[in-house]
Amino acid sequence: MKKKIAVLTSGGDAPGMNAAIRACVLACEHFEFEVLGIYHGYNGLINQEFTPLTPTSVRNIIHKGGTLLKSARCPAMLNEQGVKQAVSTLLKEDIDALVVIGGDGSFNGLLAIKEHWHGNVIGIPGTIDNDLDGTDNTIGFATAVNTGIEAIDKIRDTADAFERVFIVELMGRHSGHITFNVGVACGVEKILSFENFSEQVQQQCLTEISKEIIIAKQQRHQSYIIAIAENLWPEGTTKFAEQLSVVTNIDCTPCILGHIQRGGNPVARDRILATKMGVAAIQAIANGGTGIMIGENHEQMVSIPLIDAIQHNKQVSPTLINAQNNLLALNAN
Ligand code: F6P
Repeated sequence: MKKKIAVLTSGGDAPGMNAAIRACVLACEHFEFEVLGIYHGYNGLINQEFTPLTPTSVRNIIHKGGTLLKSARCPAMLNEQGVKQAVSTLLKEDIDALVVIGGDGSFNGLLAIKEHWHGNVIGIPGTIDNDLDGTDNTIGFATAVNTGIEAIDKIRDTADAFERVFIVELMGRHSGHITFNVGVACGVEKILSFENFSEQVQQQCLTEISKEIIIAKQQRHQSYIIAIAENLWPEGTTKFAEQLSVVTNIDCTPCILGHIQRGGNPVARDRILATKMGVAAIQAIANGGTGIMIGENHEQMVSIPLIDAIQHNKQVSPTLINAQNNLLALNAN
């Protein structure tokens, strides 16, 4: 049966969102479904900003960062009136299924829509944070990690030249996936993330790191880089750098990488993941699936109830943490 599918990108954009849109549109062509692209996340549903998408619309976008459909956060979706407005557009346009490419906030919006609408709702995990359960990786994570690596490699050059201390903050909201992966890949001297830090050990942490910095600088004449997760240090990363500078009497420079991590051409892994997920989403619709997020586990495409995907249970790989901990032990010897 011919269906009409709406697709939107929502929340923090992630490299590979375009590849996912493309895959949805091309898979819809395969199933002879019609596609409507909704602009500006859920705002476009509420304000009726959309455009038909055809294979021509998605030509030459697989390699581009950002999102053709634009993205936005939509506070209106937090109240029932906004949700009902979004639903009224879906009804007015005779939409059969809504595909949302985004993170946990976006999936909450989908769940709210599901309460008021009988069409199929499908989530595709698109966020650099990699903080959705039921999928090994989210679209955009691999690219963000690579961007973080490139940035810290460059910081290392100048840090080494000046035997200097840098504190580099990585994104991830409240998850440490980017920080841990980038930190290990760059061989930073210290990773501070949600997995190995709590406010109870804040003072101890400051003391220990200060000692290491003094040794690295004064005895070994080395640079010293700390990769720290955003939202980790209670007073903020810049304050942390100031505190370290005071305790060590050595200049410790903060560097907030910020939104650079959301941009850039998606790496191979994100393009491929996005393509597989986009196709799987449309296949799920063809098979009557709803209330699910498409994921990938051990190379298998899977469907997870949306509610299970947003529980924030996905931990940074223990093998990665173990490797870092043992590397540090070796360094200390
Ligand atoms: O969720 C993606 C993300 O980039 C987080 O890593 C970060 O905390 C947040 O979005 C930043 O949001 P905004 O762009 O709205 O400042």
